[in-house]
Amino acid sequence: MEKFTPSTPASSSRTLRLFLALVPTVFFLLSFSDYLFPSFPSTHVIDASLLERCKSLKTPAGPPADFYKRTQSDRYLTGAKPTLIKNAKIWTGEDEGNLVVQGDVLLDKGMIMGVGRVPHHHYKDITVLDAKGGWVTPGIVDLHSHLGVYSSPSLEGSDDGNSLKGTIGAWMRAIDGLNTHDDSYNTSIAGGVTTSLILPGSANAIGGQAYPIKLRRTHERSPSSMLLEPPYQINSSLPVDPSHIPWRHMKHACGENPSRVYSDTRMDTIWAFRDAYNKASQLKKKQDDFCAKVEAGQATGDFPDDLQWESLVDVLRGRVKVNIHCYETVDLDALVRLSNEFQFPIAAFHHSSETYLVPEVLKRAYGHPPSVALFATNARYKREAYRSSEFAPRILAENNLRVVMKSDHSVLNSRYLLYEAQQAHYYGLPQNLAIAAVTSSAAETMGMGHRIGYVKKGWDADLVLWDSHPLALGATPKQVFIDGIPQLETPHASTKPPAFQHVPSVPNFDKEAEDAVTYDGLPPLRPSSTFSETVVFTNVKSVYSRSGDVVEAVYTAQDAITYGTVVVRNGRLICTGTETTCLSSSILDDPEVSYVDLEGGSLSPSLLTFGSPLGLSNIDQEDSTNDGVVLDPLIASVPKIVGGDSALIRAVDGLEFQTRDALLAYRSGVSTAVTAPSHYNFFGGLATSFSTGSAHKLEPGAVIQEGTGLHMSVRHFGTPSVSTQIAALRRLLLEPQEGATGKRVKEVLEGRVPLVIEAHSADIIATLVLLKKEVKTETGKNIRLTITGASEAHLLAKELGEFGVGVILNPARSFPFAWEDRRILPGPPLTEYSPVSKLVSHNVTVGIGVQEIWDARNLRFEIAWASLAANGKIGKEEAIAIGSVNLEKLLGMDAQTEGADMVATRGGDLLEMSSKVAGIISPRRGLVDLF
Ligand SMILES: *[C@@H]1O[C@H](CO)[C@@H](O)[C@H](O)[C@H]1NC(C)=O
Ligand SMILES: *[C@@H]1O[C@H](CO)[C@@H](O)[C@H](O)[C@H]1NC(C)=O
Ligand SMILES: *[C@@H]1O[C@H](CO)[C@@H](O)[C@H](O)[C@H]1NC(C)=O
Repeated sequence: MEKFTPSTPASSSRTLRLFLALVPTVFFLLSFSDYLFPSFPSTHVIDASLLERCKSLKTPAGPPADFYKRTQSDRYLTGAKPTLIKNAKIWTGEDEGNLVVQGDVLLDKGMIMGVGRVPHHHYKDITVLDAKGGWVTPGIVDLHSHLGVYSSPSLEGSDDGNSLKGTIGAWMRAIDGLNTHDDSYNTSIAGGVTTSLILPGSANAIGGQAYPIKLRRTHERSPSSMLLEPPYQINSSLPVDPSHIPWRHMKHACGENPSRVYSDTRMDTIWAFRDAYNKASQLKKKQDDFCAKVEAGQATGDFPDDLQWESLVDVLRGRVKVNIHCYETVDLDALVRLSNEFQFPIAAFHHSSETYLVPEVLKRAYGHPPSVALFATNARYKREAYRSSEFAPRILAENNLRVVMKSDHSVLNSRYLLYEAQQAHYYGLPQNLAIAAVTSSAAETMGMGHRIGYVKKGWDADLVLWDSHPLALGATPKQVFIDGIPQLETPHASTKPPAFQHVPSVPNFDKEAEDAVTYDGLPPLRPSSTFSETVVFTNVKSVYSRSGDVVEAVYTAQDAITYGTVVVRNGRLICTGTETTCLSSSILDDPEVSYVDLEGGSLSPSLLTFGSPLGLSNIDQEDSTNDGVVLDPLIASVPKIVGGDSALIRAVDGLEFQTRDALLAYRSGVSTAVTAPSHYNFFGGLATSFSTGSAHKLEPGAVIQEGTGLHMSVRHFGTPSVSTQIAALRRLLLEPQEGATGKRVKEVLEGRVPLVIEAHSADIIATLVLLKKEVKTETGKNIRLTITGASEAHLLAKELGEFGVGVILNPARSFPFAWEDRRILPGPPLTEYSPVSKLVSHNVTVGIGVQEIWDARNLRFEIAWASLAANGKIGKEEAIAIGSVNLEKLLGMDAQTEGADMVATRGGDLLEMSSKVAGIISPRRGLVDLF
């Protein structure tokens, strides 16, 4: 612990001058004070700077009083041209996000100079951008990002988000680790993100100080130059201008993360907090006592300060926005008690899975209720997150708590932060609050609402012109301004259907939201009713169906008058047509028939999820809830009892049914999963396919196909090398093999089972293509090869098409996690093609996978997005195929035409945010499940 003595050259010379000027007086006072001025102490004369310092302790944090008198932004880049965005629909953020202005926005000097009807004739040189009625919002503000401190691609040299020297690190500063070369700055800007709060990670109870930055490249290129309103402590230990104390930011974390890193329990962590706050309180008291003496003219010695604890003292002075990673009720309750014990306000609880269950606890926090910063559907990955709910945003808003959606970049790619708001809106958060959740609410929570988060005269010129309504799925910037500077050099905008210019109408989830609270976060997810007899779907707008390995629209109503009727018996469609053609008198007279009004909905093939351990995992970070990881003969010898190194593990043997994520997938139209044995390294095993809606393995139709493809990974693990992995594959395919593995390899060579290999690097993919050729040359056998992951596959789109190698993109919207997948094709607005549309344009069979089990439910939105980003090149039929028949083919499922499930949606089709899944129709299981 260092002792801090305030002595910058500036302040000491000032004290010296003051001292010299007063020398004669001092002399006089020293001689006579006891008699003449009994209450006037001898040290009075050196106290002027101390008085100022003491006065500054009482200055509240925030912008200077004359902030709105500014005529240019402190971040203005000299020479940046003024811009007029004309004819826009402007979501201003005012009136709680309800004020939308039709008109123009004038940007100059890094500021918004006017909104609505703005005179601009006095500008000689101005860029005019015609929005043509398109939507403009404030730049997206991310309240929780690790951009630059956990950089992309991730390298050993770039994990700078946490100190591992102790659980309390209030003195750590994220700015000191901010990598300016993170690949994500540009991609996040391309999603409309203009400001992010860069937080330390959650390994420590007190991880340290956080900093809001603007993401644009600056002239200076330094971390300091990216800071939004830098606190004075960046440069100096003393307040530079005591009349103005900018907000500071700090990260705290409780629960599992600090516990895991420091082998602590929750009790240890909370004590660490109390101990730290106690030290800070004592220092604060010393300062306050000292200052009372200074003000009374009685102080002696130096101002009591300590560089390690000054930031926590500032928390106690209410001048720091404290952002707390905190999930569960037990932790929320403890932190709220801490805030009251030491009397400091909490800016926001982050992740905060259970806040929606305990709103009253939050309201008891010191000062004001914290904001709640959430993911939309990323959940259940550990105990703390198990009771998360997609309805939390709306429930919290109903309780008058401020909701923020955040990325935790790169946990979620902040480029798609707006998608979190779109999902929150889909599940019931009102539209004004949904947009606010990633703009004004985030800005207010970080104490920056005076300059960002709104489109308002005098605010920073950070805004986004969108190609659709911001809450419409797939909304993509046409241009992004930061400090008035356009960020997209040659934007590739896609054209959206006209309906996308309006806020999507969304389904009613009142009952589900109520259940989430009633059942303490674990509402029942099984279907509410199951029918094996006749079910009639009415008011059907469209029917999509499989024909071989493509999907076709077989029925489309032009308007509500021609909505159709579909009759299902024993889980099979027996009639698609009109009431007159489908409803025979035997159906009309049968009291047992169930009718389901789809209100303009749709029937389509249900979807298939692949890529996560769905069905083998309940809670990702809890080993006791999961199947576990296979042994890898390339890492260590496999015990003889399993079959030695030629053992082949079958995922089907580890299947668990009714996991929450499988049931949520089922309720979202994903009725089939293909899952491979979980493996960390090269060797996987035999995947299986199963029904996500079945109760247990012995139920008819629960296991759809015991064995599908043979799965391996070829990646940059370090040891064994990529070339060693290729050598192993070559030997497997070209030399006779024994045991269970040998049997499957034979099927691979016969083309009956695909070889499914996870590979990201284009160089590895190219090597695999050559290996496939080599096998052909050596054996005459044409193996079926599917590449999964495949972030760099677009670089070989032409060759993959020629060689008939299929690709499952996972994730569908690529991200440069590691060096081997850094050469992503980012898609619009950065590139014309998306990875999906690029591969499809070369006739590559493409599927979309997901990486984590919680994400299986979102496949319907993912395929819709793939279609929207393809600018008309991928229609709905092809998009549905990408999420169903293509995956079946690529993963080695037998032809499913007869037994394949269908999904019924109410209020729209499977790809639309207006719809809700009403049920699953399963010929294989002979039933209709309704939700
Ligand atoms: C980011 O975008 C800017 C142009 O807006 C470009 O000059 C720069 O090279 C890009 N950086 C990376 C890493 O792609
Ligand atoms: C650092 O100090 C210099 C000189 O006082 C000042 O001009 C600059 O704005 C400060 N930088 C930051 C990031 O506060
Ligand atoms: C893709 O397939 C279509 C239809 O078979 C064909 O016309 C087209 O030339 C192919 N495109 C490429 C890039 O191979």
